Amino acid sequence: MRSVGKLGVPPDRRHLLAVIERRAIRPDGFRRLVEPFPRARDAFQAFMVRVGVPERGGILLPAYIGWSAREGSGVFDPVRALGATFEFYRVTRSLHIDVEDLAQKLNRLKPRVLLLIHYFGYPDPNYRQAAALGREAGAIVVEDEAHALFSDQVGFACGRAGEAALFSLHKMLPVDSGGLLLLNGARWRTETSDKAPGAEYARALGQYDLAAIAQRRLENARALSTLLSPLAQFLEPLRHESQPGVVPQTFPVTLKKAPRDEIYEQMNRAGFGVVSLYHTMVDAISAEAFPESHWLARRVLNLPVHQDASPDALVEMVGCLRRLLESYH
Ligand SMILES: Cc1ncc(COP(=O)(O)O)c(C=O)c1O
Repeated sequence: MRSVGKLGVPPDRRHLLAVIERRAIRPDGFRRLVEPFPRARDAFQAFMVRVGVPERGGILLPAYIGWSAREGSGVFDPVRALGATFEFYRVTRSLHIDVEDLAQKLNRLKPRVLLLIHYFGYPDPNYRQAAALGREAGAIVVEDEAHALFSDQVGFACGRAGEAALFSLHKMLPVDSGGLLLLNGARWRTETSDKAPGAEYARALGQYDLAAIAQRRLENARALSTLLSPLAQFLEPLRHESQPGVVPQTFPVTLKKAPRDEIYEQMNRAGFGVVSLYHTMVDAISAEAFPESHWLARRVLNLPVHQDASPDALVEMVGCLRRLLESYH
């Protein structure tokens, strides 16, 4: 029989750490290293350099990336700046990944990086499958969460299928700037990765009640869904129901007949901050090669659901939208 001694611990185990410590002490368990940058696009560019995108196979991106004179292209400018090889995989008119096209392009191109974008905060229902396909083809998977900060941080609905994720703080919180690179796992750490993010990032993430903001955004999206249902002859929501944990950045709809650019202009003139993500595709996504992307880009209108939008203001906004749409039908 084994001797357990006075303490009840076998002598051959006394030198070991506890089987279960009183508190978690493994510094790398469940860790996501966070590196700060001025904007998400800077984080993306730095990560592409780090993993050698320009020299080692380029990047495969979704064929729905916009451009504007004021903002450039947050996703595509870094790819262009590096002179990297690129290709696009198809998306459908409802902005879902065309998984077949993705699989075929992954196998043909063997890109160094596969980019997934969680548009408007809603991860694609197939994004985990897409990430798995990317990994099988040898790609490093990056999740662009410029719109999905809350789906990641509050809903845990995305951000962990890839080796890296990107946040854009100023897109989702009332701060002037802030891009974060999140590294899942140790593979792409550098000496600088270990520096704690600066005070401005801690302030942005720590001083806002993310859960309450997420709740407000969800309530606003639900309210809009109800308010817009009588307008089915004029428009269609792009996302009908949200999946658990998904927190919208905006409420995207497609207009059936009314000219989107005019509706956009008039809504903004009336004081309702709608956007069109994206109204203009980057040149590299041609209408001939990607007709579905251009179909959507001509029709999409994103209604605000952010934390500053009150229920009364949403009612007013839908009233204004209704009057405008009626005048075009
Ligand atoms: C999907 C997406 N990713 C990334 C970006 C870039 O964000 P940032 O302005 O922080 O560089 C944008 C916006 O430009 C975006 O819409």
